[in-house]
Amino acid sequence: MAQLWGGRFTKETDQLVYNFNASISFDKRFYAQDMKGSMAHVRMLAKQGILTEEERDQILDGLNGILKDVEEGRLEITSEYEDIHSFVEAVLIDRIGDAGKKMHTGRSRNDQVALDMKLYTRDEIKELNHLVKEMMEVLLEIMEAHLDTYMPGFTHLQKAQPITLAHHMGAYFEMFKRDHERLIDIAKRMNTCPLGSGALAGTTYPLDREYTAELLGFDGPTLNSMDGVSDRDYLIELLSALSTIMMHLSRFSEEVIIWNTNEYKFVEIDDAYSTGSSIMPQKKNPDIAELVRGKTGRVYGALNSFLTTMKGIPLAYNKDMQEDKEWVFDAIDTTKGCLALFTGMLKTMQFNKERMAESARHGFTNATDAADYLVNHGVPFRDAHGIVGRLVLLCIEKKIALDALPLDEYKEICPVFEEDIYEAISLKTCVNKRLTIGAPGHDAMAQVIKICQDYLSAY
Ligand code: ARG
Repeated sequence: MAQLWGGRFTKETDQLVYNFNASISFDKRFYAQDMKGSMAHVRMLAKQGILTEEERDQILDGLNGILKDVEEGRLEITSEYEDIHSFVEAVLIDRIGDAGKKMHTGRSRNDQVALDMKLYTRDEIKELNHLVKEMMEVLLEIMEAHLDTYMPGFTHLQKAQPITLAHHMGAYFEMFKRDHERLIDIAKRMNTCPLGSGALAGTTYPLDREYTAELLGFDGPTLNSMDGVSDRDYLIELLSALSTIMMHLSRFSEEVIIWNTNEYKFVEIDDAYSTGSSIMPQKKNPDIAELVRGKTGRVYGALNSFLTTMKGIPLAYNKDMQEDKEWVFDAIDTTKGCLALFTGMLKTMQFNKERMAESARHGFTNATDAADYLVNHGVPFRDAHGIVGRLVLLCIEKKIALDALPLDEYKEICPVFEEDIYEAISLKTCVNKRLTIGAPGHDAMAQVIKICQDYLSAY
């Protein structure tokens, strides 16, 4: 064990205690961010005359060497060190001697870890946004190609009214757009630099916190050193945003699973994104969608767990906070993996246009339009609703769709009906008459697609 402390102790740490306390097995992940933070810190220390320029350069060279050696596999981060901060400092001192011992001047691991986690999260948010964008691009491609691909829209998983595939995909586009905005918003709000908060009460050195913040691309320093070391709100916001992305992916997965069933056959998942059964030779299973749906629980778990961890922590830093990392890392990895796989599956998925349109033709998805026809001919809506209800009942008995019912039978129930009812309740009319912004009608949808294209170009 190699630790940064021990002077006031008379006994060696028990090995089990050491293992329990150590975080290197997981915080080694942000070694690059840790060194980047240290480089900014020593630059600032030299600018303030707390380190000499020579010491600064020795430390910077040392850190750059360590970074390169870790990256190129010459230096291994081992569990002999308590955490990544101890590892870097110990190796630095080993390599450059006394100057290395000055790196931690005016800093605590408390503000250091708060900084590292922010730098890491900021980088990951960029990657997450990139993956969200790729998903939105695939959605937009499908929207552009399927403005006239009719399908049933559902409520209560019962056929309700006809829509188009473009419209259905557009709903997911809006969800992922909000996810993108949420991530941007978190990145904006968290962008203050905790370095200089010290252990909890700042330091006695004349640090230039604005300068360090600027070097590291922050909008400025945090304004309360106790909050600076113990704020983990942005991680909770991130876990919440990731949970929402997963909730969207999970709903989408559920639909793909349903659409892929033998009964629906709306889609065919590409062989590269399906799996087989070890016993049933005919099977082609939607495992990817099922796993995405399943992994949603894992990300929700991270949010709930970390909220619970944080709820009883008095100010300022307490070791409980070390628990932030494994949850956040796992939630980020899981969400990134799910976004990438779902996007690939969606991009290669075949839509069975005929089958979708056929499904929309049955199930009385045009019943509302038949009622609207009557309203347009002066029948009050509530009466029209009742009349069409009776027509539907008749068609159920005869096992036919509304548009297969002869005109004389329409007229028997209500004489207002004329030959043009068939045109009025055709799939095409039902969809294309819905022209208010946000509705599935061809022209309304084309207008929204333009807005979506603009959104992605400005992304
Ligand atoms: N590994 C610790 C963490 O992740 C680093 C901070 C340790 N600070 C302390 N005072 N023990 O939170």
